[in-house]
Amino acid sequence: MNKINFLNIELEYNEKVFRPTLLSEKCALNTNFKGKNILDLGCGIGPLAVYFAKNGALSVDAIDIYEEHLKFAKRNADLNKTEINIFESNLFQNVSKKYDLICCDVSGVREEVAKLTGWFPEEVPKADGSGANLILNVIANSKEFLKDSGELVICTTSFSDQKSIFAAFEQFYPNSYQEIYSEEVPFSKRLNQNIDILDRDSFNEKNGINYWRFSIFSLSKR
Ligand SMILES: C[S@@+](CC[C@H](N)C(=O)[O-])C[C@H]1O[C@@H](n2cnc3c(N)ncnc32)[C@H](O)[C@@H]1O
Repeated sequence: MNKINFLNIELEYNEKVFRPTLLSEKCALNTNFKGKNILDLGCGIGPLAVYFAKNGALSVDAIDIYEEHLKFAKRNADLNKTEINIFESNLFQNVSKKYDLICCDVSGVREEVAKLTGWFPEEVPKADGSGANLILNVIANSKEFLKDSGELVICTTSFSDQKSIFAAFEQFYPNSYQEIYSEEVPFSKRLNQNIDILDRDSFNEKNGINYWRFSIFSLSKR
């Protein structure tokens, strides 16, 4: 079995799953989760859920649409002796509770970019051609699953339709959202080789080096 170290947590994975990234790490480290009831939406093999559960969350529920991810998330929760309620759900479909914090790192990369980067193995569910369909759905429906003082933490990349995401922030969380972390990442060889298919506004060129960006936003219900 393959093992990966995520912030000093050992996680098992195989070639059919999404492996935690720098974005997963920054999301874990920049989210205010201690003492909270949490929903990890798009949990993958469980890095965020296990990290939160091991480091002071009050309770953690974790959902994903992909069976292989749920299998590994359960295995990784057990391996790390954490109690996490892990269940299958297409976004909020099977969610019935309200949370202090919804932490959402659901697929947010345009489908063709997701395929070419190698970040998303063939079987892993991806966003559509805009890269924003899942994120927009979560923003639009999240308030129903947050307590009155609850917070949605949501991860985005420059490989998604940022304009529509900002419009949704304004529509559903007017004046109550802020960027809590952002980082520019140099292109991999594969991205540089496929630059022709990328929108010009999805990357930034500085001194001959191309960078994509990921950002983490906090949206407050109140
Ligand atoms: C970018 S990966 C992040 C996984 C994990 N949060 C991490 O940090 O490693 C996106 C996750 O969203 C899940 N996903 C995609 N579509 C989904 C949907 N409709 N409902 C729930 N989860 C979904 C994928 O299966 C995948 O686990």
